[in-house]
Amino acid sequence: MDVSSAILKRTSIRRWKPVPVEKEKIEKVLEAGRRAPSWGNTQPWRFIVIQDKAKIEDIAKASGGQPHIGSAPVVIVCCGSINDFSRKLHREALKQLRDTGVMDWTDEFLDNVVLQSDVFAPYRLGEPVMTVKASEQIMIAVAYMTLEAVNQGLGTCWVGAISPRDVHKVMNLPDSLFVHALLPLGYPGEAPKPRPRKDISKIVFWGKYE
Ligand SMILES: Cc1cc2nc3c(=O)[nH]c(=O)nc-3n(C[C@H](O)[C@H](O)[C@H](O)COP(=O)(O)O)c2cc1C
Repeated sequence: MDVSSAILKRTSIRRWKPVPVEKEKIEKVLEAGRRAPSWGNTQPWRFIVIQDKAKIEDIAKASGGQPHIGSAPVVIVCCGSINDFSRKLHREALKQLRDTGVMDWTDEFLDNVVLQSDVFAPYRLGEPVMTVKASEQIMIAVAYMTLEAVNQGLGTCWVGAISPRDVHKVMNLPDSLFVHALLPLGYPGEAPKPRPRKDISKIVFWGKYE
Protein backbone atom coordinates (compact mmCIF):
# COMPACT_ATOMS: atom_id res chain seq x y z
CA MET A 1 0.00 0.00 0.00
CA ASP A 2 1.38 3.44 -0.82
CA VAL A 3 1.58 6.14 1.83
CA SER A 4 -1.24 8.25 0.37
CA SER A 5 -3.61 5.27 0.43
CA ALA A 6 -2.71 4.49 4.05
CA ILE A 7 -3.31 8.13 5.04
CA LEU A 8 -6.70 8.18 3.31
CA LYS A 9 -7.73 4.77 4.65
CA ARG A 10 -6.80 5.39 8.29
CA THR A 11 -9.62 6.17 10.67
CA SER A 12 -9.73 5.61 14.40
CA ILE A 13 -10.99 2.08 15.08
CA ARG A 14 -12.96 1.41 18.25
CA ARG A 15 -14.29 -2.10 17.57
CA TRP A 16 -12.11 -5.13 17.10
CA LYS A 17 -12.45 -8.60 15.65
CA PRO A 18 -11.82 -11.01 18.51
CA VAL A 19 -8.74 -12.52 16.86
CA PRO A 20 -5.10 -12.26 17.89
CA VAL A 21 -2.62 -10.17 15.92
CA GLU A 22 0.44 -11.91 14.48
CA LYS A 23 3.71 -10.95 16.17
CA GLU A 24 5.32 -10.09 12.80
CA LYS A 25 2.59 -7.53 12.16
CA ILE A 26 3.03 -5.94 15.57
CA GLU A 27 6.77 -5.79 14.90
CA LYS A 28 6.18 -4.02 11.56
CA VAL A 29 4.06 -1.41 13.35
CA LEU A 30 6.75 -0.90 16.01
CA GLU A 31 9.45 -0.62 13.36
CA ALA A 32 7.49 2.22 11.74
CA GLY A 33 7.63 4.04 15.09
CA ARG A 34 11.34 3.36 15.39
CA ARG A 35 11.97 4.91 11.98
CA ALA A 36 10.25 8.20 12.89
CA PRO A 37 12.29 11.40 12.93
CA SER A 38 13.06 13.05 16.25
CA TRP A 39 14.67 16.17 17.67
CA GLY A 40 18.44 15.69 17.40
CA ASN A 41 17.68 11.99 16.80
CA THR A 42 17.00 11.65 20.53
CA GLN A 43 14.32 8.93 20.00
CA PRO A 44 12.85 9.41 23.49
CA TRP A 45 10.03 6.90 22.90
CA ARG A 46 9.55 3.56 24.63
CA PHE A 47 6.80 1.17 23.53
CA ILE A 48 5.46 -1.52 25.83
CA VAL A 49 3.38 -4.14 24.03
CA ILE A 50 0.62 -5.68 26.14
CA GLN A 51 -1.32 -8.73 24.97
CA ASP A 52 -2.33 -10.19 28.30
CA LYS A 53 -6.12 -9.82 28.62
CA ALA A 54 -6.13 -9.17 32.37
CA LYS A 55 -3.39 -6.55 32.07
CA ILE A 56 -5.23 -4.84 29.21
CA GLU A 57 -8.34 -4.69 31.40
CA ASP A 58 -6.30 -3.14 34.23
CA ILE A 59 -4.88 -0.56 31.82
CA ALA A 60 -8.39 0.19 30.53
CA LYS A 61 -9.64 0.72 34.09
CA ALA A 62 -6.75 3.07 34.79
CA SER A 63 -7.62 4.98 31.62
CA GLY A 64 -11.16 6.00 32.43
CA GLY A 65 -12.60 2.73 31.08
CA GLN A 66 -12.69 3.57 27.37
CA PRO A 67 -14.19 0.33 26.00
CA HIS A 68 -11.99 0.14 22.91
CA ILE A 69 -8.95 -0.24 25.17
CA GLY A 70 -10.34 -3.10 27.24
CA SER A 71 -11.60 -5.01 24.18
CA ALA A 72 -8.42 -4.64 22.09
CA PRO A 73 -6.23 -7.71 21.51
CA VAL A 74 -3.08 -5.56 21.78
CA VAL A 75 -2.37 -2.30 23.58
CA ILE A 76 0.86 -0.45 23.00
CA VAL A 77 1.65 1.76 25.98
CA CYS A 78 3.54 4.67 24.43
CA CYS A 79 5.96 6.17 26.94
CA GLY A 80 8.59 8.85 27.02
CA SER A 81 12.05 8.86 28.54
CA ILE A 82 12.81 12.36 29.80
CA ASN A 83 16.44 11.36 30.38
CA ASP A 84 16.92 11.11 26.62
CA PHE A 85 16.82 14.92 26.70
CA SER A 86 19.41 15.16 29.48
CA ARG A 87 22.59 16.92 28.47
CA LYS A 88 24.50 13.63 28.45
CA LEU A 89 22.11 11.60 26.28
CA HIS A 90 21.19 14.49 23.99
CA ARG A 91 24.92 15.06 23.47
CA GLU A 92 25.46 11.38 22.64
CA ALA A 93 22.64 11.46 20.08
CA LEU A 94 24.00 14.63 18.46
CA LYS A 95 27.54 13.24 18.42
CA GLN A 96 26.31 10.10 16.70
CA LEU A 97 24.61 12.25 14.04
CA ARG A 98 27.76 14.32 13.67
CA ASP A 99 29.85 11.16 13.32
CA THR A 100 27.61 9.89 10.54
CA GLY A 101 28.23 13.14 8.65
CA VAL A 102 24.95 14.98 9.23
CA MET A 103 26.78 18.03 10.59
CA ASP A 104 30.40 19.08 10.68
CA TRP A 105 30.38 20.32 14.27
CA THR A 106 33.54 20.11 16.38
CA ASP A 107 33.20 18.82 19.95
CA GLU A 108 33.87 22.37 21.08
CA PHE A 109 31.00 23.75 18.99
CA LEU A 110 28.69 21.00 20.24
CA ASP A 111 29.58 21.64 23.90
CA ASN A 112 29.93 25.41 23.89
CA VAL A 113 27.34 26.50 21.36
CA VAL A 114 24.70 23.85 20.63
CA LEU A 115 24.36 22.45 24.14
CA GLN A 116 24.51 25.94 25.65
CA SER A 117 21.57 27.10 23.55
CA ASP A 118 18.05 27.42 24.95
CA VAL A 119 16.78 26.85 21.41
CA PHE A 120 18.70 23.65 20.67
CA ALA A 121 19.07 22.07 24.10
CA PRO A 122 15.77 21.54 25.97
CA TYR A 123 17.60 20.34 29.12
CA ARG A 124 18.54 23.97 29.76
CA LEU A 125 14.86 24.87 30.27
CA GLY A 126 14.09 22.13 32.78
CA GLU A 127 11.97 19.02 33.09
CA PRO A 128 8.61 20.45 31.93
CA VAL A 129 10.15 21.53 28.62
CA MET A 130 12.01 18.21 28.29
CA THR A 131 8.69 16.40 28.81
CA VAL A 132 6.97 18.48 26.14
CA LYS A 133 9.84 17.86 23.76
CA ALA A 134 9.75 14.11 24.43
CA SER A 135 5.98 14.10 23.89
CA GLU A 136 6.35 15.85 20.52
CA GLN A 137 8.69 13.13 19.30
CA ILE A 138 6.49 10.29 20.58
CA MET A 139 3.54 11.75 18.69
CA ILE A 140 5.44 11.49 15.41
CA ALA A 141 6.28 7.84 16.11
CA VAL A 142 2.68 7.04 17.06
CA ALA A 143 1.44 8.69 13.84
CA TYR A 144 3.81 6.52 11.83
CA MET A 145 2.58 3.44 13.68
CA THR A 146 -1.06 4.23 12.93
CA LEU A 147 -0.23 4.31 9.22
CA GLU A 148 1.82 1.10 9.20
CA ALA A 149 -1.05 -0.57 11.05
CA VAL A 150 -3.31 0.26 8.09
CA ASN A 151 -0.69 -1.19 5.75
CA GLN A 152 -0.81 -4.40 7.80
CA GLY A 153 -4.62 -4.59 7.57
CA LEU A 154 -4.91 -3.52 11.21
CA GLY A 155 -6.63 -0.66 13.01
CA THR A 156 -5.61 1.65 15.84
CA CYS A 157 -7.13 4.34 17.96
CA TRP A 158 -4.85 6.95 19.46
CA VAL A 159 -5.92 7.25 23.08
CA GLY A 160 -4.67 10.31 24.92
CA ALA A 161 -7.54 10.94 27.33
CA ILE A 162 -6.12 8.77 30.07
CA SER A 163 -4.75 9.17 33.54
CA PRO A 164 -1.02 8.81 32.83
CA ARG A 165 -0.28 8.48 36.54
CA ASP A 166 -2.73 5.59 36.99
CA VAL A 167 -1.44 3.76 33.91
CA HIS A 168 2.12 4.35 35.13
CA LYS A 169 1.19 2.67 38.39
CA VAL A 170 -0.59 -0.30 36.78
CA MET A 171 2.40 -0.80 34.49
CA ASN A 172 4.82 -0.54 37.41
CA LEU A 173 7.05 1.82 35.44
CA PRO A 174 10.20 3.53 36.72
CA ASP A 175 10.12 7.28 37.48
CA SER A 176 12.34 7.89 34.46
CA LEU A 177 9.43 7.03 32.14
CA PHE A 178 6.16 8.87 31.66
CA VAL A 179 3.07 7.51 29.93
CA HIS A 180 2.15 9.57 26.91
CA ALA A 181 -0.67 7.66 25.15
CA LEU A 182 -2.14 4.25 24.51
CA LEU A 183 -2.41 2.68 21.09
CA PRO A 184 -4.91 -0.18 21.01
CA LEU A 185 -4.26 -2.33 17.96
CA GLY A 186 -6.18 -5.13 16.29
CA TYR A 187 -8.11 -6.30 13.27
CA PRO A 188 -10.89 -3.75 12.68
CA GLY A 189 -14.38 -4.86 13.63
CA GLU A 190 -15.85 -1.82 11.88
CA ALA A 191 -15.18 0.18 8.73
CA PRO A 192 -16.02 3.78 9.57
CA LYS A 193 -16.29 6.47 6.94
CA PRO A 194 -13.60 9.17 7.08
CA ARG A 195 -14.37 11.63 9.87
CA PRO A 196 -15.05 15.29 9.03
CA ARG A 197 -12.15 17.67 8.50
CA LYS A 198 -11.96 21.45 8.25
CA ASP A 199 -12.09 22.71 4.71
CA ILE A 200 -8.62 23.12 3.20
CA SER A 201 -9.31 26.85 2.69
CA LYS A 202 -9.68 27.27 6.47
CA ILE A 203 -6.28 25.80 7.31
CA VAL A 204 -3.94 26.41 4.36
CA PHE A 205 -2.68 29.82 3.24
CA TRP A 206 -0.46 30.42 0.25
CA GLY A 207 1.96 33.32 0.50
CA LYS A 208 0.24 35.08 3.40
CA TYR A 209 -2.34 34.45 6.10
CA GLU A 210 -5.70 36.07 5.40
C1 LIG B 1 -3.52 13.08 20.66
C2 LIG B 1 -4.81 12.35 20.41
C3 LIG B 1 -5.56 11.89 21.48
C4 LIG B 1 -6.73 11.16 21.26
N1 LIG B 1 -7.40 10.64 22.33
C5 LIG B 1 -8.47 9.85 22.11
C6 LIG B 1 -9.10 9.20 23.20
O1 LIG B 1 -8.72 9.33 24.35
N2 LIG B 1 -10.15 8.38 22.93
C7 LIG B 1 -10.60 8.17 21.64
O2 LIG B 1 -11.55 7.40 21.46
N3 LIG B 1 -10.03 8.79 20.59
C8 LIG B 1 -8.98 9.61 20.79
N4 LIG B 1 -8.35 10.21 19.73
C9 LIG B 1 -8.85 9.98 18.37
C10 LIG B 1 -9.56 11.22 17.81
O3 LIG B 1 -10.82 11.35 18.43
C11 LIG B 1 -9.69 11.06 16.30
O4 LIG B 1 -8.42 11.01 15.71
C12 LIG B 1 -10.49 12.21 15.65
O5 LIG B 1 -11.82 12.23 16.10
C13 LIG B 1 -10.51 12.08 14.12
O6 LIG B 1 -11.02 10.82 13.74
P1 LIG B 1 -10.17 9.81 12.87
O7 LIG B 1 -8.94 9.43 13.65
O8 LIG B 1 -11.07 8.62 12.67
O9 LIG B 1 -9.80 10.48 11.58
C14 LIG B 1 -7.18 10.95 19.93
C15 LIG B 1 -6.43 11.42 18.86
C16 LIG B 1 -5.26 12.10 19.09
C17 LIG B 1 -4.44 12.55 17.91
